[in-house]
Amino acid sequence: MTNWLAEALGCSVPLVLAPMAGPGRGRLANAVSKAGGFGMFGVGNDMSGEAVRAEAATAGTDGGRYGVGLLAWAQSGNPDQLDAVLDLRPDLVSVSFGDVSVPVRRLRDAGIRTATQVGALSDLDLAHDAGVDLIVARGAEGGGHGRNAMGTLPLLQMILDRTDRPVLAAGGILNHRGLAAVLAAGAQGAWVGTAFLGCAEAEMSSSARARLIEQDETGYGRVFDVAQGLAWPPEFGGRALVNDFYDEWVGREDDMDDAARLRHQEARKTTDFAVAHLYAGEGVAALVREQTAEQVVREFARALDQ
Ligand SMILES: Cc1cc2nc3c(=O)[nH]c(=O)nc-3n(C[C@H](O)[C@H](O)[C@H](O)COP(=O)(O)O)c2cc1C
Repeated sequence: MTNWLAEALGCSVPLVLAPMAGPGRGRLANAVSKAGGFGMFGVGNDMSGEAVRAEAATAGTDGGRYGVGLLAWAQSGNPDQLDAVLDLRPDLVSVSFGDVSVPVRRLRDAGIRTATQVGALSDLDLAHDAGVDLIVARGAEGGGHGRNAMGTLPLLQMILDRTDRPVLAAGGILNHRGLAAVLAAGAQGAWVGTAFLGCAEAEMSSSARARLIEQDETGYGRVFDVAQGLAWPPEFGGRALVNDFYDEWVGREDDMDDAARLRHQEARKTTDFAVAHLYAGEGVAALVREQTAEQVVREFARALDQ
C-alpha cells in the first residue's frame, strides 16, 4: 500500500507514534520506527537543546527515522530547541498549540518537513497560511494537551473536505479498527499516543504504567497546568486520568492556592497518583497489559489486511 507516510517517511504501517513529552522519548520512537511505523518524541516546554540532541541520538539509533514534536507556545522562551532541531534535521517536525508561523517558516526554509495538530477549523487556516506539509486532525478524545472543540470523526471529515494536504487522524484511535476507519475516510494514517502508553519502551515508573492499565476514566481541563504554573494557552487544556486532585479543582482552577500546588509537586515526587497527573486519552480504557512497541504496531498493521 502506497500512501504519503510510505513515500515520505518509509512507513510500512501508516502509523505515527505521536510526540508525547514525558513518556514518549527517543527509545519509544526508535522502537516504533523499527517496527514499521514512524516514531516521534515529544519536547516539553523546559527541555534544553542538549536534551533534544540526546533523545534524537537514541531515536536515530541504527539509522532509525524519527520525528520531533515541539510546542509552539514554548518556542519564544526556549530558542535552543528549534536551533537543535534545525541542526539535527529530523524526517518530520511537528509544531503544535499556539502560533506556528515562525518556527514552521524556519523549518521550511531549511527544507525540513513539517506537521501540526489541528483541533478546530481556525487552526486549519493557520496551518495553510504557514505552509505546513502534513495536517493532523486531532480530536478532543486525545490524550495530553489539545483543544476540546470537536471529536475526531467530525473534525477529520471537515478537514478532509477543506485541504489538499495529506491528513492524519488523531484522538481515540486505539487499534487496527480505528486505523482502518480513518484510512477508509481518506486519511493517510493515524497519529497515536495513548495506545503506546502501556509499552515497555515508554519512559515511566512501573506504578505509573500500572495505574494507566488499571484506570479507565479521563477528564479534560487546566487543573494540572495551573498546579504546575505552566504557561499553556488556556484553549489548550489537557486530558488526563481523573483523580482526587482533579475532582477537587476542576472548574475552580483560578482559586488554586500555594498549598495545593505544593501538594501536587510533592505527589509527583512520591508518585501518588491520587494527586499527581498522568496524561492519557479516552482510549486508556483499552490498555489491559504491558506490551512492546512492536506488538502494538503489529496489531495496528492488521488494518492493512481488511
Ligand atoms: C502523555 C502524553 C503527552 C503528550 N505530549 C505531547 C507533546 O509533547 N507534544 C505534542 O504535540 N502532543 C503531545 N501529546 C498529544 C499527542 O501528540 C496526540 O495528540 C494524542 O496522543 C492523540 O490522541 P490519543 O492519545 O488518543 O492517541 C501528548 C499526549 C499524551 C497522551
